[in-house]
Amino acid sequence: MSAQLPASQLLERYHGPAAQLLPIAPPADGWLVERSTAMISGDVALRQQWQDAGKLASSPLAPMNAEPAGRVVLFWPKAHALGTWWLRWLCQWLPENTPFEIVGEHQGGIKRVPKLLAALGMGCDKLDNARRCSLFASRTVALPEQPDEWQRFEALGMTLVSHPSVFGHGKVDEGTLLLLDTLEAHLPRRPMSVLDMGCGDGIISAWLASRGHTVTAVDVNAFAVEACRQTLAANQLTGSVCESDVYRALGDARFDLIVSNPPFHQEREISYGPSARLIDEARQHLTPKGQLVLVANAFLPYPERLERAFGSFETLADNRRFRVYRGQS
Ligand SMILES: C[S@@+](CC[C@H](N)C(=O)[O-])C[C@H]1O[C@@H](n2cnc3c(N)ncnc32)[C@H](O)[C@@H]1O
Repeated sequence: MSAQLPASQLLERYHGPAAQLLPIAPPADGWLVERSTAMISGDVALRQQWQDAGKLASSPLAPMNAEPAGRVVLFWPKAHALGTWWLRWLCQWLPENTPFEIVGEHQGGIKRVPKLLAALGMGCDKLDNARRCSLFASRTVALPEQPDEWQRFEALGMTLVSHPSVFGHGKVDEGTLLLLDTLEAHLPRRPMSVLDMGCGDGIISAWLASRGHTVTAVDVNAFAVEACRQTLAANQLTGSVCESDVYRALGDARFDLIVSNPPFHQEREISYGPSARLIDEARQHLTPKGQLVLVANAFLPYPERLERAFGSFETLADNRRFRVYRGQS
């Protein structure tokens, strides 16, 4: 198998087909899985891909204790604040002066990495450059304590906790606001069991829990799960929060209501995969007469999917940019 994505192709070209790598925050790429000794990622769906191939995969929030083997390679994320978080994390996880590499696409901002490394007192050599990607080498240094990257902000009368890895980091999404306004107008007043699918910083979960509903929240991203837990705690609210690739970790649990501002991007690519599963499998996770309520950009092709999954659906709100849809079991 050959590398599929440009950043992996650059690694294959530089290290050769027999590379032994320990990717940090990698994208999905079969060659990379094959060439990995282990991997670290906040994304539970990606970790599953590596685990399915028999590789050790762990979250940065619960890193492996094992001595890392293979060349450590950080895949530079599109948010520089998150990239810097990973650099600091590597300096805490690995002994001082451990070599590691950083790879990324030019359009993802990899060219700024030497400056960001210098700001942390870290050196850097350029190893290769092809496929509109660059590969740098650096070494870990002893850094002072990791600064607290969990940012708190106030919105809708609640305290929200976020992190550079979490959707919208520190801001409330316009679609989410429309969803909550619509729920206020349409939700029955009785307490319900609710699933918040793709919880992010937990804004929807906290809003629902503060109205007396029993909340289960899931997200594929370990940082979002932690942010949501902290958001609930900061508002003296409770809920069950866990990592899950859409419904995967939920078994056959059923809910009166599933609410979501679903994802349609993976890094820079448009991807409807998780949203399609959210809609297609919703009825298997709803109680009789249970409802799926979701908000989406008006241009997204969800109406046909909802029609297929539920037979019919309603548009509860439409502000031209976003629509709120409801399907009933
Ligand atoms: C548009 S954001 C909404 C976040 C939050 N609910 C809000 O309204 O601000 C979509 C969320 O879905 C999560 N997500 C992406 N893929 C997922 C998947 N396969 N399973 C579960 N959650 C996923 C993302 O990590 C992100 O937190």
